[in-house]
Amino acid sequence: MDDALRALLDAGLAGTGPIVVMTGAGISAESGIPTFRGEEGYWTVGSEHYHPMEMATQEAYRRMPEEVWRWYLYRRSVCRKAQPNPAHLALVRLERALGDRFLLVTQNVDGLHLRAGNTEARTYQIHGNIDYLRCGDEPSSLRPVPLAIGEDWEAGSPFTEEARALLSCCDGGRFARPHVLWFDECYDEALFRFESSLRAASAAALLIVIGTSGATNLPMQVGAIVAERGAPMIVINQDPSPFSRFAERSARGAFLQGSAGEHLPPMVEHLVQHA
Ligand code: APR
Repeated sequence: MDDALRALLDAGLAGTGPIVVMTGAGISAESGIPTFRGEEGYWTVGSEHYHPMEMATQEAYRRMPEEVWRWYLYRRSVCRKAQPNPAHLALVRLERALGDRFLLVTQNVDGLHLRAGNTEARTYQIHGNIDYLRCGDEPSSLRPVPLAIGEDWEAGSPFTEEARALLSCCDGGRFARPHVLWFDECYDEALFRFESSLRAASAAALLIVIGTSGATNLPMQVGAIVAERGAPMIVINQDPSPFSRFAERSARGAFLQGSAGEHLPPMVEHLVQHA
């Protein structure tokens, strides 16, 4: 690790605000979960009948709930079969060392940060979690996808009567919905920690951004706020992104091009040793 990077990490530790880590699909790529916009990405490859971005809308769910559920149950199977990788585990170590100074803002719905051991209290799942469902927008209806639904949904598996019953709301026939934020929906605080994420950006002593292309609104706002404040920002990403440009334009920024598994563990080691 070079001196400039070490100095950014030390500046983060010396500050008073939280050390905020913001993750995207790139951190789970090494666990075997496809990203969204990469060559083999969910939004690139497509599904059998629909363009995948069409499937991730409330409009599609209203029109064809079973088709949308099949798509999410298939993606959930991929997530459930994946295991946390060294980058996820490094973030668990970091939370344990930093306690309340640690905050994780993740766009990933794969649940791998929580399965690795990060706590729900300090993990803002700003796009939801594919392991949960809810009835409409009612936060109190949020609950895990029933175990009996199984984890072996191949792409194109037919929908069964049993699945239909398991995914229904308690009030009868109505389908529950996957707990994810769709393209035609807005962030909010109760379900997606919108204001809390912005507050974290305003107070962050250091922002570490990992594996995201910068295609969504809230993460871009978080990055812009931190850049505007001139707070330290470190970006780990396979490819350049709007976040890497923020970091490169800042006197207190660094862009590490490459994989999360390669760059994150040594940084965490330094932070843990000096916390
Ligand atoms: N390490 C670090 N970065 C990686 C790795 C890796 N091993 N593999 C891929 N990347 C980078 C890619 O270069 C890319 O910039 O991760 C980024 C993944 O970008 P996207 O596929 O667009 O995923 P993400 O940014 O998380 O998407 C944001 O968009 O579609 C919505 O809701 C969905 O949460 C998702 C959001």
